[in-house]
Amino acid sequence: MARLTADGVPTAIVDGGNLGSDPSKRPVILESMAKMSYAACLTGTDEADSVRKDAGKGKLSLTPPFDPADPKATSWAGELGGVRVGLLRLEPHGSSGQDASEAALVSALEALKKRADVVALASRLSDAENRRLARRLGPAGLLQAIFVAPANCTPDLPTVTDGVLLCPTKDRGQTVTLLQAERTVGQPWKLSCRLESIGTAYTPDPGVAGLIARYYETQQTTLAAATAEKPLSEASYAPAPRCKPCHAKAYEVWRKSAHARAVETLRGKQRLVPECLACHSEPFRRNGRFDAGLAAEDDGVQCSTCHGDAILHALTRGAEKMSRELECGECHDAVHHADFGTEKALVVIRHW
Ligand code: HEC
Ligand code: HEC
Ligand code: HEC
Ligand code: HEC
Repeated sequence: MARLTADGVPTAIVDGGNLGSDPSKRPVILESMAKMSYAACLTGTDEADSVRKDAGKGKLSLTPPFDPADPKATSWAGELGGVRVGLLRLEPHGSSGQDASEAALVSALEALKKRADVVALASRLSDAENRRLARRLGPAGLLQAIFVAPANCTPDLPTVTDGVLLCPTKDRGQTVTLLQAERTVGQPWKLSCRLESIGTAYTPDPGVAGLIARYYETQQTTLAAATAEKPLSEASYAPAPRCKPCHAKAYEVWRKSAHARAVETLRGKQRLVPECLACHSEPFRRNGRFDAGLAAEDDGVQCSTCHGDAILHALTRGAEKMSRELECGECHDAVHHADFGTEKALVVIRHW
């Protein structure tokens, strides 16, 4: 029986996620990959290119998911624990080019199948698109690692659509997707995958948890420094409670919304760091500093995030018109919310 195991044999696909978006993080990714001999590290599109470039410099011996010498390469095949594994990268595409893309994908997949026993598809498409593809690609030997935020992809646990295993990736660099292939001679390959959280459940190499923790420690230091440097400019926007006396309904709706909880979410994940606060905290976005003592209703994605600073407006009792600040898509981008649909989302946040 050939088997990919987690015991020191490269088996893991890492969702590098946000870990890839900052050049200072690349060493962390590369070190983790080298230490754990990760089979593949999935990061955002642009980041993947630069990570591959660094890997290609040969500083570390690791198995990059795709040929570092060829940035256009979208597939990789190699041996892991006695199993020939192929990996195919799939990026989102415009709806116009959909059929062409699918056709190209099918032929790339057929080519890869000749060189591999099992094929994993590292997809950054939406859940719905992945399922549609799974149906079209058909069963056997294809594993799909969905590369979107968990809120947007249904499976927290692997699911099977028409014989194709849909494998979740999760939580931006804090979780790895382990894939396993087993076969008893004469039987077809049996694929399974599961999520392992780095830090608690994942034990093969404690160094990895350490590396990631170290990265976030540096982030904390950066945040502390930035926060100490910058005085909190209280006048930069009017926080939500300032709107409450005149817009009570809007306030109540907002207070119960995910936007109002955005900083709490980070606190719960111990990710009160600049790279995350940039979207999750209005005071940080505006002032570049974080105040841990700020009341919850003064923080998070605020009224002012969307409606502008509102200071004059509040002072003039509505006589001064509001300006527009950020559009939804500036935060709900392809990386942070692949399935975002404005119409639907507006219904969810409706407070007018
Ligand atoms: C003292 C009362 C008062 C306060 C405080 C106040 N508003 Fe208003 N706001 C009004 C009134 C009155 C109108 C209606 C103006 C009109 O119809 O011309 C209005 C209209 C609006 C509108 C729609 C019209 C426009 O200008 O775009 C928005 C959005 C809005 N307020 C947001 C806010 C936000 C956000 C805050 C808090 C930061 C806030 N308001 C604080 C009184 C207030
Ligand atoms: C400054 C960044 C930012 C902007 C601009 C923004 N959002 Fe959000 N939004 C977030 C964050 C961060 C969360 C997640 C908060 C959490 O759960 O901690 C979120 C969550 C949501 C959710 C809940 C998502 C879910 O699956 O539970 C909806 C719906 C939503 N936003 C709609 C909108 C709409 C509509 C707009 C534009 C009118 C918008 N957002 C603009 C940052 C933003
Ligand atoms: C570009 C803006 C942006 C940045 C930067 C950002 N987020 Fe978010 N985040 C969002 C939006 C938009 C949502 C809501 C969409 C969703 O639920 O997937 C969200 C939702 C979340 C959620 C709740 C849903 C989930 O995926 O579990 C968590 C947790 C989260 N973010 C953590 C983080 C962490 C940790 C970081 C930093 C590493 C970060 N975010 C950086 C925009 C951002
Ligand atoms: C995620 C972005 C977002 C947040 C956060 C948000 N709003 Fe809005 N708000 C909108 C959008 C979008 C509309 C729809 C009208 C428009 O396009 O301006 C709207 C509409 C309104 C209106 C009615 C405007 C009109 O022309 O009738 C008021 C008043 C308002 N918001 C107040 C608030 C207050 C007060 C808060 C905070 C307690 C808040 N909003 C938080 C995006 C947001």
